[in-house]
Amino acid sequence: MTLVAGVDSSTQSCKVVVRDAQTGALVRQGRAKHPEGTEVHPHHWWDALQAAIADAGGLDDVEAISVGGQQHGMVVLDAEGEVIREALLWNDTRSAQAAVDLITELGDGDVVAGAQAWASAIGSVPVASLTVTKLRWLRDAEPENAARVAAVALPHDWLTWKLAGGMAEVGFDGLVTDRSDASGTGYWSPFTEDYRTDLLERALGSVPRLPRVLAANEAGPVAPAFALKPVLGPGAGDNAAAAIALGLLPGDVAVSLGTSGVVSAISSAPIADGTGLVTGFADATGSYLPLAVTLNASRVLDAACRMLGVDHPGLSQLALSAPAGADGLVHIPYLEGERTPNKPMSTGALHGMRLANTTPAHVARAAVEGMLCSLADGIDAMRAVGVPVERVFLIGGGAQSEAVRHIIPSVMGLDVLVPTPGEYVADGAARQAAWVLSGSDTPPAWSASSGAEVMTGEPTPFVREQYAAARELTVDRPA
Ligand code: XUL
Repeated sequence: MTLVAGVDSSTQSCKVVVRDAQTGALVRQGRAKHPEGTEVHPHHWWDALQAAIADAGGLDDVEAISVGGQQHGMVVLDAEGEVIREALLWNDTRSAQAAVDLITELGDGDVVAGAQAWASAIGSVPVASLTVTKLRWLRDAEPENAARVAAVALPHDWLTWKLAGGMAEVGFDGLVTDRSDASGTGYWSPFTEDYRTDLLERALGSVPRLPRVLAANEAGPVAPAFALKPVLGPGAGDNAAAAIALGLLPGDVAVSLGTSGVVSAISSAPIADGTGLVTGFADATGSYLPLAVTLNASRVLDAACRMLGVDHPGLSQLALSAPAGADGLVHIPYLEGERTPNKPMSTGALHGMRLANTTPAHVARAAVEGMLCSLADGIDAMRAVGVPVERVFLIGGGAQSEAVRHIIPSVMGLDVLVPTPGEYVADGAARQAAWVLSGSDTPPAWSASSGAEVMTGEPTPFVREQYAAARELTVDRPA
């Protein structure tokens, strides 16, 4: 049996799956935790990767490996290849002002023109999540660190490089990435398939070394000393890796409930949405993967559990015992500020409180519905830019909530397919590794998803309407 491995280096943990390259059958798996926080030293990811590999029984018998991971994180390296400072993660909002500055500058003072200019250049309007804004923040807030930057990588690029032997074995020439993660930097264009070093220079004030963008099934570098190591695939951003695992096609939309809430769709043409609601990212196969990403998903459910003093099954039980719409109680889930819509400083809120609806069941229902409404807004944004929405898949940790599974079809007004719970990001990376190993033009036929439950429900448009009315009333957190 030929074995391949896939990694998901996510915000909260690292997961490794080992699968049969021919059939896709799961052979073994392992995991390890990452530290909390939106600013993390990459060596924690490397330690967790080692621990997860060991937990998965090691790589000695594995022929190829690909790394999928959280997107956008800024990993800055000095001339010796050492990490200069903690990486700022995708959910760190300190570069919100840098995003505004970059947009305003490109529009010569006109924010709307600037937003469209960015979308036309790199497919997306910068928000605090995108790497380009973090580099501008670094230039302004830590000029001495900015001056030392010799190379910039993303979490999955850096881990792939470490697996290849890092600076000592492959140098900066061995730094590689793929088009899906490159397209989330803010300085790579899905229209020209190349870096926009002019935009990088505008942000950072210099143009450091950047990872080479590998083709979808191209092997990365392996140093001679590491010749017995498995073949390294290009890897991918987490959402693109999940799309590979699910085998998404045009018309398919995945709603992923992890730390982030992500609506992603396959598009055969690149997207340039100047409103910024949809980001025009690339996928990892040669198509495009427009996304609408929220900062508030599964942790909204965690917070509701905390508020109500219940566990997740308890939250579901409460939510499902209240009526749709929670008798007018609306939970706006912007607990971490928000990215889509772009309100980095906003806070969450409960609106429409009355004596009759201030029960644990109503509060639970409102929390679930509020989170789902913010993702339903993302699906509407996809349609508005011409992305077809025919089938919706629900994945991610949040899909394990019974309340989410039962309420989502009514909120979305669509049937929703819930594939068997699995590590879809790591699985997609494993499928990519098998693809690289096969040398074929197309990925292996196996899909990591082994069947799906179809959830249906009466549409409840009034839930969206009451949410939309309250959505505009949020208050910013104190500066
Ligand atoms: C995508 C995004 C998140 C991260 C974390 O744009 O920011 O989905 O990849 O998972």
